Amino acid sequence: MSLKDKLDLQRLPRHIAIIMDGNGRWAKERGQDRLYGHHEGVESVRNIVETCAELGIGYLTLYAFSTENWDRPVYEVNGIMELLVNTIRMEVNTLSKNNIRLSVIGDMDMLPPQAQREMEEAIALTSPNTGLNLIMALSYSARWEIVNAARKIALDAKNGALDPAAVTPEVWDKYLCTAGLPDPELMIRTSGECRISNFLLYQLAYAELYFTDTRWPDFRNEHLYQAILNYQTRERRFGKTSDQIQQNEEIIS
Ligand code: IPE
Ligand code: IPE
Ligand code: MG
Repeated sequence: MSLKDKLDLQRLPRHIAIIMDGNGRWAKERGQDRLYGHHEGVESVRNIVETCAELGIGYLTLYAFSTENWDRPVYEVNGIMELLVNTIRMEVNTLSKNNIRLSVIGDMDMLPPQAQREMEEAIALTSPNTGLNLIMALSYSARWEIVNAARKIALDAKNGALDPAAVTPEVWDKYLCTAGLPDPELMIRTSGECRISNFLLYQLAYAELYFTDTRWPDFRNEHLYQAILNYQTRERRFGKTSDQIQQNEEIIS
């Protein structure tokens, strides 16, 4: 039985978020420049996007570049931005053909103008699509997002558009970059690091976390199936007791 056949298709996560880490080390381990790792990582993106679309996953968020990544050497940052522009240009038709809808979360104003244009065009072109929602976290950090949301809320309250007493988790959600998206149920980080690195701090509150040593350029569909299978063994309690969860499942089934 293949790993894919073992998946319970009724219990797939609706939203998977991935920290695509380990490109630089993967390249160094092969005596290559870090940029080579980023280039090879694109093939993993293709494979995982295609796999999620095939499985019928609703939302896939990929952490591609953090706010802090701007502090890397200029050569690497420029190389990544160039790769981004070329990849979007090359892939946009495939996204459309596969009914995938692209969106971005992050500080787009920080991106070079050409990258901004490519992204905007690809987002507009794929906006009618109704299949997988592919969300690229680009120049994104959760602290940036949360502070931004707080600023907008404060402004609306000051202008009288929002009553501070009416700020609930549902209202707060609307001020985040992820407004309208369900929270990820499964968060995967590749490359062996067991940290969040400023990714979706608010939205991951109850996500199941899965860490693998596999470097991102080696990550393929089989690794994703493994992560989902692991997710399907977890009991998601949301603060309740195991007995309560099991009783509830008995009532539903
Ligand atoms: C992830 O790989 C890609 C980005 C952060 C842009 P890294 O470039 O962080 O690779 P490592 O972690 O240094 O190996
Ligand atoms: C997180 O990886 C950001 C992305 C994968 C885009 P980093 O490589 O930047 O994170 P740290 O520095 O190891 O925490
Ligand atoms: Mg890294």
